[in-house]
Amino acid sequence: MTSNQQVPSNEQWAELEMAARLAAKQAYAPYSKFTVGAAILDGNGKIHIGCNVENASYGLSNCAERTAVYAARANHGMQEVLAVCIYTPTPVPTPPCGACRQVLNEFGPTMRVRAICDGEDMIDSTLDLLLPGAFGPKNLQDAAH
Ligand code: THU
Repeated sequence: MTSNQQVPSNEQWAELEMAARLAAKQAYAPYSKFTVGAAILDGNGKIHIGCNVENASYGLSNCAERTAVYAARANHGMQEVLAVCIYTPTPVPTPPCGACRQVLNEFGPTMRVRAICDGEDMIDSTLDLLLPGAFGPKNLQDAAH
């Protein structure tokens, strides 16, 4: 497993923020009307985007962060996530939901997490703070012997 301790540069954060804002425009959220964009920075310095995609069968809706992870893996074989930026066109920032924290954990347990919005506030954190005591790939490896 490669290291994911790297911190994005200010330029990379600026790119992530712009990508997350653009991604939110692709959101398909006819039910909640709550659009979300996410951008992830992978271990090779590449940025991948995702948006929420809802469904008439509400429970099948997919969050922006998970869309970004799945698209990055499917399209580019992404192996590691260093940082995620989440944008919502709201007055306050939106933290990633529990399911997304778990999916993000698979590819970057200590990744940086930033949430931005149309207001002044932002969330700047790390996944290990947002998902303490996480279950992850290591637990399966430990169980194997
Ligand atoms: N949503 C996300 O895309 N990411 C989150 O972390 C929180 C929630 C979406 C799911 C749903 O389409 C809408 O926001 C309202 O819950």
